[in-house]
Amino acid sequence: MKKIGVLTSGGDAPGMNAAIRSVVRTAIFKGFEVAGIKRGYQGLINGDIEDMTISSVGGIINRGGTILGTARSEHFKTEEGFKKALDILHIFKIEGLVVIGGDGSMKGAEKLSQAGFPAIGLPGTIDNDLGYTDFTIGFDTAVNTVLDAIGNIRDTSSSHERAMIIEVMGRNCGDIALYAGLAGGADGIIVPEEELDIDYLCERLIKGKNRGKQHNIILLSEGANITSKELIKLIEEKTGIESRISVLGYIQRGGTPTANDRILASKLGCRAVELLLEGKAGRAVGIKGYDIVDYKIDEALKMRDELDHDMFNLALMLS
Ligand code: ADP
Ligand code: F6P
Repeated sequence: MKKIGVLTSGGDAPGMNAAIRSVVRTAIFKGFEVAGIKRGYQGLINGDIEDMTISSVGGIINRGGTILGTARSEHFKTEEGFKKALDILHIFKIEGLVVIGGDGSMKGAEKLSQAGFPAIGLPGTIDNDLGYTDFTIGFDTAVNTVLDAIGNIRDTSSSHERAMIIEVMGRNCGDIALYAGLAGGADGIIVPEEELDIDYLCERLIKGKNRGKQHNIILLSEGANITSKELIKLIEEKTGIESRISVLGYIQRGGTPTANDRILASKLGCRAVELLLEGKAGRAVGIKGYDIVDYKIDEALKMRDELDHDMFNLALMLS
C-alpha cells in the first residue's frame, strides 16, 4: 500500500480535524502518501480529492468542524454511485481509506471493505450512539458546550424563578442530556431510553419550590417521547411554575474540541492507519476504558448502545 485516503462523512463533530491530522501525519511518518477526500462519499464520487501534506493539517487540531467538509450522499448508496466511488479510488491510486463519521458512514466503509477495498471506520459524531466504543469523537465537546449553556440559562431561571427546558441533540441517544445533566446539576433529565414519570418530576419541582429553590433546569433529549411544547404545558399545569424552552441546536456541533476529544481523535486516527498498514479491513476503531479497540464493522454496529442506568439514577438522586 502506497497511498491512503481520508474522508469525513455525516454530521460534523468537534475533533474530526484532530483525527484527520492524526491520520495524515501517522501515514506520512510511516512513509505513505495521503489523499484528502472532500465532502464525504459524495466528494469521492465526484473525484473531489487533493494530496495532503504535513503542513496541510497544520493549525487544525484546535478547530471544530472538518477541513475536508462533510456530506450525506444518497448517490453513494446506489449501485451506480458505489461503483463510481470504487473507480475513483482506483484512478487516484488510493489503496486504503479511513472514514470518520457515525454509524451510516461506518456502513459505507463496511460496504467498501466487502467489495475488496480496505476501509477503516472512526467514530465521529457528537451523539455517542455507537455501542462498541465508550466515547465518540465530538461527544465530550458537545457535553461541555451544553454545560456552558446550562450555566447561562440558570441565571435567567433563578432570576425569573422559571423552569427552563433545554432541548439537546443526540438523535435516539440520551447521552448528551445525561452527561451534561449530571455535570450541570439538572433537576430533570428526559431521554429516549428511560420512561418519563411526569408526576414524579413535577412533585420534585414543587418540593424544590417549597424549600425556596429558584432555578429549575430540565434537559430534554431530542429523541425523547415527548416534545418540549407538551412538556412545558404539563409542567405549568401541574406545578404552576412558569416555564420556557431553549433549543440549543447546532451550537452543540461546533466549537473548539476539548482536550479529551483531541486526544481521543489523535489516538484513534493513528490506530486506523496502523490497521490499514497491517493489512486489516472493515474494522471500526474505538475506546473501551483506556484501551484502543477495533472490531469488525458489522459486529461493532450490532453492539447495542445502552444508556448508563446507574448514572441516570445517580443524577436523579442528586437533583
Ligand atoms: P452518520 O455517519 O453521521 O450516521 P448518515 O447516516 O447520514 O450519517 O450517513 C452518512 C453517509 O454514509 C450517507 O449519506 C451515505 O452516503 C453513507 N451511508 C449510510 N448508510 C449507508 C449504507 N447502508 N451503505 C452505504 N453507505 C451508507
Ligand atoms: O448526528 C449528529 C446530529 O447533530 C444529531 O444529534 C441530530 O439529530 C442530527 O445530527 C441533525 O442532523 P442535520 O445535520 O441533518 O440537521
